[in-house]
Amino acid sequence: MDSSLIVFLSTMFAPLALSLSVFVVLRATARRKLRLPPGNLGLPILGETLQLISAYKTENPEPFIDDRVARYGAVFTTHVFGEPTVFSADPETNRFILQNEGRLFESSYPGSIQNLLGRHSLLLMRGSLHKRMHSLTMSFANSAIMRDHLLVDIDRLVRFNMDSWTGRVILMEETKKITFQLTVKQLMSFDPCEWTENLMKEYMLVIEGFFTIPWPFFSTTYRRAIQARRKVAEALSLVVRERRRESEKGERKKDMLAALLDEGGGGSGGTFSDEEIVDFMLALLVAGYETTSTIMTLAVKFLTETPHALAQLKEEHTEILAKKGVNEALQLEDYKSMPFTQCVVNETLRVSNIISGVFRRAITDVTIKDGYTIPKGWKVFASLRAVHMDHDHFKAARTFNPWRWQNGSGTTSCSMNMFTPFGGGPRRCPGAELARVELSVFLHRLVTQFSWVPAEQDKLVFFPTTRTQKRYPILVERLNQVRAM
Ligand code: HEM
Ligand SMILES: *[C@@H]1O[C@H](CO)[C@@H](O)[C@H](O)[C@H]1NC(C)=O
Ligand SMILES: *[C@@H]1O[C@H](CO)[C@@H](O)[C@H](O)[C@H]1NC(C)=O
Repeated sequence: MDSSLIVFLSTMFAPLALSLSVFVVLRATARRKLRLPPGNLGLPILGETLQLISAYKTENPEPFIDDRVARYGAVFTTHVFGEPTVFSADPETNRFILQNEGRLFESSYPGSIQNLLGRHSLLLMRGSLHKRMHSLTMSFANSAIMRDHLLVDIDRLVRFNMDSWTGRVILMEETKKITFQLTVKQLMSFDPCEWTENLMKEYMLVIEGFFTIPWPFFSTTYRRAIQARRKVAEALSLVVRERRRESEKGERKKDMLAALLDEGGGGSGGTFSDEEIVDFMLALLVAGYETTSTIMTLAVKFLTETPHALAQLKEEHTEILAKKGVNEALQLEDYKSMPFTQCVVNETLRVSNIISGVFRRAITDVTIKDGYTIPKGWKVFASLRAVHMDHDHFKAARTFNPWRWQNGSGTTSCSMNMFTPFGGGPRRCPGAELARVELSVFLHRLVTQFSWVPAEQDKLVFFPTTRTQKRYPILVERLNQVRAM
């Protein structure tokens, strides 16, 4: 899930009533004499939303944050997307916010997103059910056996897709295909076929819905998204029912769906209902798709613009390839012998900030650093990006420099909380390790099979989501495999 897209949604349509209620909250706050973090609430209703949007539409959104941090400090109050919001660019405060999920803060998504995700998706779950489902997802994506097994699937699907590449390739579209097929494979063991192609078409309509006016009467895109969601959900329930029948006959597959069917006890103590399982699978599709495909695309962009890093990466992978037979699949040991690749992965995650930060809502009045108080009910935005881009924490923070990771933590300070592309606390991304593996394998196959140049000038933007404007078209040329080895 991209938080800047959530930002976008809540912006456009924050109704007037909400702003009025904010006004009431503000007055109540003043009466209770809470010490708010310093800041500027901007214009009535609009607040500082327009400034934020115009900043994030450029390649360099940093000044929006820099200016305010310089004026007010790393934790400040602003008013964006219809609500007063405490904005944190401070690693300690971010950690405090993330760690206190469920106690002092809770995640907060707008209703339109809830409709598209379904009530039972992990992103919207709370409490003990969330805990169980989160660890189920983790164990699926992280256990050594699964990862070994996954690695083979990832490698196969990456190669399957790259086989058809010639001439001009729109990288963001290809990486989306790869990540979609991979998720479907992991969830329910389907290989790419007509069924998965159709599912992807419907699913893309659902995703489009995230970017539009969430008002059925005004937006055909949103209406279409809701319809498409119903179709996707139907297709998935068919699969779930079929698999229930199979498992009654004792057949068992090794995928996420099998784990869900095995897991006794939904909310009520019984097994999970079909609806719960479908919502859960849909949410995983959403969470892993845009994020991972964007990170793949941006890694290629940064490497293309940093030829020295690309050369070193290529050397590392050519060596791995040389030790293996032609067409031999990558193994876990290969993945573990990619030290420079891991530097590239970290640096890509740090610079691109796919999820620029996370939104929370204070469950109660919360006192933070320096004695400031976040009033109950207020929105909080823990900006991961602001920390990653801070010169105090990362030397020359705004340049892509994978070598900074060769000396350990990459940061110039000794604290642990500086690098958090996957968030933290109870909601830390359960797909983190998976995303790293996917990116590494993708880079391995890319640099050993192709050389490329950008087909056009393309620009990075951060609103409504982090992406390049033209989906990064490149011109590829297949390398002579013999020479590559
Ligand atoms: C580069 C790729 C990715 C990035 C940068 C990323 C980042 C994040 C972040 C920052 C969060 C925390 C959101 C919050 O605290 O509100 C999150 C949550 C989540 N991510 Fe990822 N993610 C990535 C890939 C994936 C993949 C591949 C999966 C698929 C398994 C996935 C599944 C999830 C789920 C299910 C959650 C919700 C967890 C919860 O609320 O308990 N993510 N992700
Ligand atoms: C990493 O450390 C070595 C020596 O420990 C030093 O020479 C090098 O400049 C450092 N590199 C970076 C990027 O900090
Ligand atoms: C990349 O970042 C992770 C923290 O998320 C860290 O544990 C790991 O050591 C880093 N990798 C390198 C090569 O520095």
